[in-house]
Amino acid sequence: VNSTLPATVIWQQGQLQLLDQRRLPEQISYLEINTLAQACEAIRTLAVRGAPAIGIAAAYAMAVVAGGVAEARRLAELEAAAQALQAARPTAVNLSWAVQRMLRLARSDIRLERLRAEAEAIHDEDRSLCRAIGVNGQHLITPGCRVLTHCNAGALAVSELGTATAPLYLAHAAGVEFRVFADETRPLLQGARLTAWELAQAGIDVTLICDSMAATLMAQGEIDMVIVGTDRVTRNGDVVNKIGTLNLAVLCHHYQLPFYVACPSSTFDAQTPSGAAVHIEQRPASEVLDGRAAQVKALNPAFDVTPAALVTGLITDRGLLRYADANPLAPLLDAATQTSRS
Ligand code: MRU
Repeated sequence: VNSTLPATVIWQQGQLQLLDQRRLPEQISYLEINTLAQACEAIRTLAVRGAPAIGIAAAYAMAVVAGGVAEARRLAELEAAAQALQAARPTAVNLSWAVQRMLRLARSDIRLERLRAEAEAIHDEDRSLCRAIGVNGQHLITPGCRVLTHCNAGALAVSELGTATAPLYLAHAAGVEFRVFADETRPLLQGARLTAWELAQAGIDVTLICDSMAATLMAQGEIDMVIVGTDRVTRNGDVVNKIGTLNLAVLCHHYQLPFYVACPSSTFDAQTPSGAAVHIEQRPASEVLDGRAAQVKALNPAFDVTPAALVTGLITDRGLLRYADANPLAPLLDAATQTSRS
């Protein structure tokens, strides 16, 4: 569907390469990841970013670590690597989900080929989760509709169809005409640099807006719905996503517009009761100041929490879960139980 895009994660014969998203869209270049330190640095500095993509990259990084050490010392090295990778970015649950899944396997089967196969399975599953999200959300994209999205929950953040973009890609492939508005997403401009670029490459009608324009567009009746991705959905249905997502949810409530969140089951955190318990990553002030007035203070929380009460529904691989329904999150709780058993 978007075959013109460069792959976010490349894994060939035990070699890991990550698309350097900091340089997009001007430059398409890859980082070779041969060590744990390189993997942690790539995740921490957002060379690879987006909740599912950092999980996939970390799973392969565990396989890289495993390949560099004798079998007798492998489990101890992997336990240490897991700690380091998880600490690289604290908010997206996919990172610890993928790393813990690799560790669970390592504790029962330490063979290198098994660990590599597990990382590949995490990557493959992600592709099918995205496709299922697309199938379950495609009907929301009706002819003429205007969708606002935030940050980048597209192919670059995941694999192939992305999450929030999966219904868009499938609707586009089916010939439905619609428009997308992409928030530029200060301070790191994932919307401007990544989402607008990736959708335009796919031939989707996309218009870039400043984050501060959303209210005006909604007031003018120019938006029909918001679809965003997420870094973590907690047990009570709160949604953690890129800073500025909460603004959109509040606006949707005011203007009575649907607010959907695309959430693969790997992003559902059944262990954490609510968004209040999630560690929100604080990033350097320099990203906000961007070279201006170094004597000025700046805040830079990378994510916010949208309370479940403001969410219309989750578009998941398990179906479209509407928050107004009884037990809307039951399918994700089932998925979480199955994953922790496997
Ligand atoms: O800081 P980033 O660029 O990693 O933030 C990414 C987001 O907030 C995405 O919306 C989220 O990870 C979902 S990606 C499918």
